Amino acid sequence: MTVDVPVDYAVPQQRDCARYKMHKYWAGKPWYVVAEYIRHFTREGDIVLDPFCGGGVVGCEALINRRKAVLNDVNPMAVFISKNTCRSPVDMELFLAEFKKIEARIKDKIMEMYRLREKCPICGEYLYAKHVVRGPSKKGAWIVEARCPKGHGRGFNIRRLLTEEEKADILRIEAAEIPFWYPDGELPDGREIMRLKKAGITHMHQLFTRRNLMALSMLYHEIGHIGDEAVRDLMLTAFSNTLLHASKLKSEGLRPMSANSYYCMGDWIEENVWERFENRILWRWGVFEGKKETNRLIGDYFKPVREFSGLEKEGTFMLSNLPAQHLSNLPSESVDYCFTDPPYGGSIQYGELTLLWRSWLKMGSDFIKDEIIVNRYQNKSEQDFGNMLKEAFGEVYRLLKPGHWLSVTFNNRDFGVWSALLNACRTAGFEQVNIVPQKPLGNSFVQSWAKYSLKRDLILNFKKPVKASSRRQKNTPCLLEIKSLIIFTAKEYLAKHRRATLPELFEAAMMRWIDVYYKQPDDGPLCLSGQGKQCFDMAYVDRCLQQAPGFQRWEEDKNIIYSFVVE
Ligand SMILES: C[S@@+](CC[C@H](N)C(=O)[O-])C[C@H]1O[C@@H](n2cnc3c(N)ncnc32)[C@H](O)[C@@H]1O
Ligand SMILES: [Zn+2]
Repeated sequence: MTVDVPVDYAVPQQRDCARYKMHKYWAGKPWYVVAEYIRHFTREGDIVLDPFCGGGVVGCEALINRRKAVLNDVNPMAVFISKNTCRSPVDMELFLAEFKKIEARIKDKIMEMYRLREKCPICGEYLYAKHVVRGPSKKGAWIVEARCPKGHGRGFNIRRLLTEEEKADILRIEAAEIPFWYPDGELPDGREIMRLKKAGITHMHQLFTRRNLMALSMLYHEIGHIGDEAVRDLMLTAFSNTLLHASKLKSEGLRPMSANSYYCMGDWIEENVWERFENRILWRWGVFEGKKETNRLIGDYFKPVREFSGLEKEGTFMLSNLPAQHLSNLPSESVDYCFTDPPYGGSIQYGELTLLWRSWLKMGSDFIKDEIIVNRYQNKSEQDFGNMLKEAFGEVYRLLKPGHWLSVTFNNRDFGVWSALLNACRTAGFEQVNIVPQKPLGNSFVQSWAKYSLKRDLILNFKKPVKASSRRQKNTPCLLEIKSLIIFTAKEYLAKHRRATLPELFEAAMMRWIDVYYKQPDDGPLCLSGQGKQCFDMAYVDRCLQQAPGFQRWEEDKNIIYSFVVE
């Protein structure tokens, strides 16, 4: 049997760990939250499902806690990252030996391409470029950050303009043929990709300088010679996680894709490919440390199977690359618990943004038609998004055993996206039990809210009823109007807490809205037609409370504070 009380507290924050740094992916959920939920809702040997697995955190934490993992994602890149995150044990001695071989064969050749004409004053070796600022806004005045190959002078930066001779060296190198294969396909149209096209980038290879394409093609070619599949895949993970930094999407002031977007700045930089690759292998957040961690924590508990029936025997891990709308590979009522983080409307374009990696790893784009997303280039409106999400949560409902739990983590400010999620879970037949805010990472609660952004993730716990119920709970009718919902919730909150910041009251109202919305009929009075996308925001909550009798409002350290005095 499963527990009857869902988790109702914020899970205490723990440190980052190397196993989730092996490759960039978006919206990775804090591992300690995932682990806590898995332990709470399941026992050892139970089956945990994540149909939108992304980077694979749910699967990896399930395995670490000796639960069987069923992962799925429509995007082959997510499947690749999940596989490499979870797979263990991988022979790390062999891995290091293969890395040393690659180093012996091509490191010097690559480093030679970034050599400068200046020597280190301490050892007399030629300096090399760590990176060169080469974007068009520099108008040919390229700036180099240089290093000594023996590491001298780490404390001070050698930063200067490249000399004409050094620039001529680069152009000479770039006049040669690129030695091995590299992706040169034409970029499709797309919401994010249009930004590249506007910057004049129409083909994949134009995202790299020719010098970096040469170095990358050599690396990719060498990795292809590795015989052991697990070691090769892990090396490819490091290679793929090198690509963004080695591309023109990076400038000195901007981490590549930091805004979940393809921005190519006028002052893009060209990074030294070997340095970045080596760093991706050996750094404390590199694949070597990450894989050592899962080797230690998962050990030989990882037993992959292709068919679900394998999980009823020895198997502990199943990973598929299907649309979550149709998980025909999984039998009904077979899953003990589902923890998932579904796509959030159109905020992150996973399909498009993974293209850069997928082109090198020779993964196609056919899956995009099934991707659950809002994107007009794919002819997918918010309504289509909602319909696909409905199908997917219908599948989760089918797969879960009756009386078992689904936890959904979601972070979005758009009420339209929220209502799509809530409609999907309600239509499937789930009972919504509670909503739990999780502590933000980094910034304090008040600081991040002060910027009007929703930094706290909410986790919604749903239950699949033992018997499908046809009747839903009724609401207090007065809360079906947004204004009274906000005022009622603020009074209730302030009765408990004496005083509260505006963001706290906004969050409380939002949680109440979710609750009331979920419990209304499908096309109930809280549906968003006519109210615009943002059904209410912090400024609206502020206005409502200022107009309502009994509230006191003042400012303290740039925060708006409320208390409730009398009616
Ligand atoms: C919010 S992310 C999940 C991130 C994940 N929790 C993590 O920790 O990395 C949502 C994922 O849903 C996937 N996705 C989108 N449409 C899908 C579909 N139709 N079926 C399965 N997965 C889909 C995306 O590829 C993306 O990886
Ligand atoms: Zn030196």
